[in-house]
Amino acid sequence: MDILNHLPVDQYSAVDDLLTFISIYDDTRRTRAYFQMLEAERDRIQGAVCVDAGAGIGLFSERMIQLGAKTVYAVEPNPYLFQLARKRLEKYPNVKFIQAPVETFEPDEPVDILVHEFFGQLLYDEDLYDLEKISFKPRLYLPDKATLMYGTTQSSIVADDTVTPEVLRMLEGVLVSGLFDEGDLPLQHPVISWEPDYFPRSATVEIVTPGDVLYLGLKIWHQNREMCVAGLCSNWAYVWTPVAGTRFSLQFLEDERGSEVVFQWI
Ligand SMILES: C[S@@+](CC[C@H](N)C(=O)[O-])C[C@H]1O[C@@H](n2cnc3c(N)ncnc32)[C@H](O)[C@@H]1O
Repeated sequence: MDILNHLPVDQYSAVDDLLTFISIYDDTRRTRAYFQMLEAERDRIQGAVCVDAGAGIGLFSERMIQLGAKTVYAVEPNPYLFQLARKRLEKYPNVKFIQAPVETFEPDEPVDILVHEFFGQLLYDEDLYDLEKISFKPRLYLPDKATLMYGTTQSSIVADDTVTPEVLRMLEGVLVSGLFDEGDLPLQHPVISWEPDYFPRSATVEIVTPGDVLYLGLKIWHQNREMCVAGLCSNWAYVWTPVAGTRFSLQFLEDERGSEVVFQWI
């Protein structure tokens, strides 16, 4: 969904985020995986103080209340999503609404559980930085691990009538998401991982499999169980680029609106 007319900057940005984030709910596989994770953590959620960091429309806050959380802080900076979450959750007295970025939120009680979904297609290209800056220390993060993985394949396998091998060569050094269908191409090797309190910002990777096309994709884990895999969960499409070396580096630099990704063949 694209906004096609001129709007004041603040309105543009808020509506743009609204449209981006409501579209994540098309990914029913992801939502189901998150609900299953919450269900599996039912014992720890019962009686717990929970923070839903980036509550969106409030689905996970609602589920945590239904699973017996003592209090859920639904933290959401976007004014439109905040409004939708408040409407969904106003019938639950144990939900507290915070319209702010989570890194500015200062709870006045210890937090047991933090639920979040700040992973972009390349792991750090959304807002994991914000989790690094939070003022409190939850006892448990849900989910608790995400890994950017890579694999290689042949252009003769993935190229089509639109993105021909000739077009692909024009994309040297460019990371493009959703360029091809993921099919059943496996994510073979790790590039970089996030875990609570561990925020690596760069990686250098030696390519160990043959092929002239590199693809990258995310895997999200909780308690060592795979929850979401790029391609299967449509929110995280594979990212593609032609191979132009034997090693590449990725660097995630923070900017005002999230992250800048620096990619280079070495
Ligand atoms: C990927 S969505 C997840 C929404 C919801 N948790 C879900 O999965 O259904 C990320 C949400 O985080 C919100 N967000 C972005 N930056 C944030 C920040 N710094 N603090 C809290 N929420 C943020 C966005 O507005 C968006 O609603």
